Amino acid sequence: MVGKIGRRLGSLALSGMAFAALVSAAAAATGPQLAAVRISGERRVTFNTNWRFYKGDAPGAENPSFDDSHWTLLRLPHDWAIEGPFDEKLNPETGGLPVSGTGWYRKSFLLPENAQGRVFTIFFDGAMSNSTIWLNGEELGGRPYGYSSFFFDLTSHLRFGPQTNVLAVRLVPEPNASRWYPGAGIYRNVWLDITAPVHVAEWGTYVTTPEVSNEKATVAVKAELSNQSANEARVTVRNTVFDQSGMPVSKASSDAIAISADATRSIPASLAVSNPQRWEMSHPYLYTLVTEVLQGDRAIDKYSTTFGIRTIAFDRDKGFLLNGKPHKLHGVCLHHDLGALGTAVNRRATERQLEILKAAGVNAIRTSHNPPSPELLELSDRMGLVVMDEAFDMWRIPKVPNGYSKYYDQWSERDLRDLARRDRNHPSIILWSIGNEIPEQNSAEGWKEAKRLSDFFHEEDPTRPTTSAMNEWADAIRNHFADNVDVKGFNYQPMHYEQIMHEHPNWVIFGSETESCVSSRGVYDLPLVAYEKPPSHQISSYDVVAPFWAYCPDVEFTYQEKFPNVFGEFVWTGFDYIGEPTPYFDGKQEHDWPARSSYFGFVDLAGFPKDRYYLYQSEWTTKPMVHILPHWNWEGHEGQAIPVTAYSNAEEVELFLNAKSLGRKKRFSDPWEMPVGHNVSDSGKFMTKYRLIWQVPYQPGTLKAVAYSGGKQVAEQEIRTAEAPARIKLAADRSVIHADGDDLSYVTVRIEDKDGNLCPAADNLIHFNVTGAGDIAGVDNGNAATTEPFHADHRQAFSGMALLILRSRPDPGKIHVVATGDGLTQAEIEVRTESALAAKK
Ligand code: GAL
Repeated sequence: MVGKIGRRLGSLALSGMAFAALVSAAAAATGPQLAAVRISGERRVTFNTNWRFYKGDAPGAENPSFDDSHWTLLRLPHDWAIEGPFDEKLNPETGGLPVSGTGWYRKSFLLPENAQGRVFTIFFDGAMSNSTIWLNGEELGGRPYGYSSFFFDLTSHLRFGPQTNVLAVRLVPEPNASRWYPGAGIYRNVWLDITAPVHVAEWGTYVTTPEVSNEKATVAVKAELSNQSANEARVTVRNTVFDQSGMPVSKASSDAIAISADATRSIPASLAVSNPQRWEMSHPYLYTLVTEVLQGDRAIDKYSTTFGIRTIAFDRDKGFLLNGKPHKLHGVCLHHDLGALGTAVNRRATERQLEILKAAGVNAIRTSHNPPSPELLELSDRMGLVVMDEAFDMWRIPKVPNGYSKYYDQWSERDLRDLARRDRNHPSIILWSIGNEIPEQNSAEGWKEAKRLSDFFHEEDPTRPTTSAMNEWADAIRNHFADNVDVKGFNYQPMHYEQIMHEHPNWVIFGSETESCVSSRGVYDLPLVAYEKPPSHQISSYDVVAPFWAYCPDVEFTYQEKFPNVFGEFVWTGFDYIGEPTPYFDGKQEHDWPARSSYFGFVDLAGFPKDRYYLYQSEWTTKPMVHILPHWNWEGHEGQAIPVTAYSNAEEVELFLNAKSLGRKKRFSDPWEMPVGHNVSDSGKFMTKYRLIWQVPYQPGTLKAVAYSGGKQVAEQEIRTAEAPARIKLAADRSVIHADGDDLSYVTVRIEDKDGNLCPAADNLIHFNVTGAGDIAGVDNGNAATTEPFHADHRQAFSGMALLILRSRPDPGKIHVVATGDGLTQAEIEVRTESALAAKK
């Protein structure tokens, strides 16, 4: 809805700075009860602070006069469900957490008299789910799909001066609406955009690079201008491209443009950038386009778009090409929760996930199975990861009783177009996915929907292909579902790549979802067999267990190598996530609780790599590494043969027990017969060349692996038999963080013996005393089967480790942590928070 401003164009003369001063003055004038808008002069300001929250229904809370003084005061993003408690009666598929019910949020704010004449747009990056929004008692609308970003023009309902404005949000997430933990609440950022009546529309720029050479790139811009005034406006548009150092490198101004009252108009421009720096995975160079709307020579609006100069192509023989060079995708699927923080978006938590994944050689992310946070895309742009951006997990045919199917007919076009418009300038995005394992692939008519959704993407962005993650490969092909996406994604089908390619000589295909191997960090069961699910609720980390539709990484590696034009894979999953605790979620056993989060990740929920992480690292990276498993504490098994596995990217690995060589093994030349499911081979066996295995009669001491390439030692790893737990060791991933109330330091807690060896079975309860300039944001240990709360000042160790997440406060200082546990020497650590860093951010 476009609100009219009336005849107040005079106030356009108010510069950004003057306006900021006015609003700050209003902020100072208000008492502590009333949150006042703080405006920096930027077009967009954060609108996350001073919200009141109530869990439950509150009839009449949309009315401005409603008394919310007893509601909880909090800062967004917020996920109410992560606070728990875990409950056996709740659905383990969504994590056994309270993800449904009603929740209300209210925010009161003032705007100065002189701000009249501006256009105010409220922006929700995502609200879970079924939202309705009111301003000053007037209903603005709402959004059923919790992953969609959406916005409303507030202008016509706003009050200025001493009168308070009240924004109210009601969310009604339903039970059984998701196949994983969705979270609940306003779990993403909220923004307030403040513009002149004539401005670049929200998501109003589309930047492409139709011609790219070493000498020159053409930057094509379409800017949609909106005139929300009652008069025709005469403006010019100036587009400037800035390089990464902030230098202007290209500029173009339009002729004078007339835009009728209450109308929009698309203004094209073409700019040339000389000697462009390409956006590469190894060199993710970013440019910024600044689009200014000018009246005379005064800029009345300024809109920034980050973009990259790059070409993408998908080729039957060469696979995926970035700037003309082929890249195999070493991708992971990610759900959106951030472990102990739940789904409440946090930039640093997201960045840490991506850093950990990149170190394993990951170069691609699939946002399974929904639109991601904007932060994930911004970070992918900056960190050189490519992204498969996915819209839906279901269409009309439901997978769960209250899933998206209820809203599909009414909302699918809107949700999908909005996703494309929000995201299409991100250089990281290379594929649009219309959906995951859509049941319609089995029906004769399903292709029509595939075409409809694919066409929407093509209309919004003809520069990227569409895809879908298809698991029923034969049906999807027979029913022409696969024909209606550009690039064909197959889930769990490496055994059929050959046949598919043979029968479809023009198709470009990839593993849109692969593996689904399951394991628990630091847990090893013997004998080494592929079992279904032990009563311990923990799965062996020997990396041989997968459900019947799935398989271990070695299988996909084998087929990807055999068919190099299959352009890569997306592992299910990079990180563990809350919910879907397969194999303890198959309806066959009553005693599956407290399994409540996934075992699929090659990194656990706390962010600690499992052994499988190093199997990927050995295949996807070249910096020499070697990793051995299991631990070396097999008391009572003296003399028994313990399988020791090495994952390495070096040519050879030699294993030593107590300094005695147990022989060298050559990578790729010592295959091992691995147990697999009958989906992979009729015999239930598969020869893998990706792991080296020694049978080592157990005696305590030191196990050491030395890796060699070209005859030289290039890496080594040593594991020692640990004695009794004696002390706590703390290590912060960052010891200086921003003092902005948002930044995080992740502190790894290790239980060690007196010599500093990790005690692999330690499960000591650790207490954290945190004082000073920060607070505990969450605790975890990566155990998928515990009901300990994530919000606490204590945590049991799991396989010798735990995690403490610290969050800064807005004022700089020092965060002091003391960790204690019975019978253990305590540990202390200090993390500094700096506001200078916050300002630079
Ligand atoms: C796939 C599905 C994923 C997840 C996975 C577990 O079929 O697309 O969402 O459920 O199975 O193996």
